[in-house]
Amino acid sequence: MPTGLLPVYESPKAFQDACEKARRDGHSVGFVPTMGALHAGHLALVAEARRRCSFVAVSIFVNPTQFGPGEDLARYPRTFERDLEGCARAGAACVFAPDAASMYPPGESTRVRVEGLTDSLCGPVRPGHFEGVATIVAKLFALAGPCVALFGRKDFQQLRVIERMARDLFFPVQVVGFPTVREPDGLAMSSRNAYLSPEDRRGAAQIPLALSHAVRAFQAGERSVARLVEPTRARIARISSSIDYVTVADPVSLVPLADHGTAGDRALLAIAARVGAARLIDNVVLGEDPAPCPQEEA
Ligand code: PAJ
Repeated sequence: MPTGLLPVYESPKAFQDACEKARRDGHSVGFVPTMGALHAGHLALVAEARRRCSFVAVSIFVNPTQFGPGEDLARYPRTFERDLEGCARAGAACVFAPDAASMYPPGESTRVRVEGLTDSLCGPVRPGHFEGVATIVAKLFALAGPCVALFGRKDFQQLRVIERMARDLFFPVQVVGFPTVREPDGLAMSSRNAYLSPEDRRGAAQIPLALSHAVRAFQAGERSVARLVEPTRARIARISSSIDYVTVADPVSLVPLADHGTAGDRALLAIAARVGAARLIDNVVLGEDPAPCPQEEA
């Protein structure tokens, strides 16, 4: 259904036809899947997709199958009109905003499960989450038929899972990982930051600070997993009611390194922790990413 700003499709078939027509007209199709409540991080993905492709489709769909019981599906923030303006400004050509019944119609019974990469980090804490993500992204790829799809490195495990899924299912798409976009104090932008009270929001800045300390320690030669993990965990424990994990893992396989182990030239340091009403995740690839807080205090 075309709106004033840009065409919005609610039907999967209409969206598929629009992307098909764009390809026939000679466009390269870029795709950015989202759950809406768009912030500057999402819009940076759209702008990057637009730099790479002449026709950029954005999906806005709060995907029920990736939420567990007791998670925040019902209260997930929804800011649709503002999202459309952001998409238009960032250069999107159209938005796909289906309802749950059209993505999961009665009788629908196919699920995509990526093994191995989902055994660590958020996998065990959120059973079924990555199956929901891989399933919806496979459906969306089948509709959009993109040549490039953009994903944020903030959700590092999700990015690896989607890369694997696309390769294994022979989707002819280049999956591109985009650097984490951060607030001025270093906090990773997230739709879920809206759940933070002002006090929790101030406390949440400890997360990028903790990661920055680890980046500097690594740059100074620290390779002991325990000496990278423990100070990070201690700093986050000051402001978190519960920490799901602080883990150093192989950045390709996501296999965690043992506490008594030693990191190589590149290592993923990933955290998930509850701060107030929000569950926040963040990460850096040590040996690759800059410190999230360049001007940190000691
Ligand atoms: P959502 O959380 O809305 O994120 C959509 C995309 O934006 C993801 O690729 C995510 O990694 C990226 N993103 C979020 N915050 C970012 C930030 N601060 N900097 C850079 N990129 C950021 O991730 C999902 O939705 C869903 O799981 C989805 C892939 C749409 C499947 O339902």
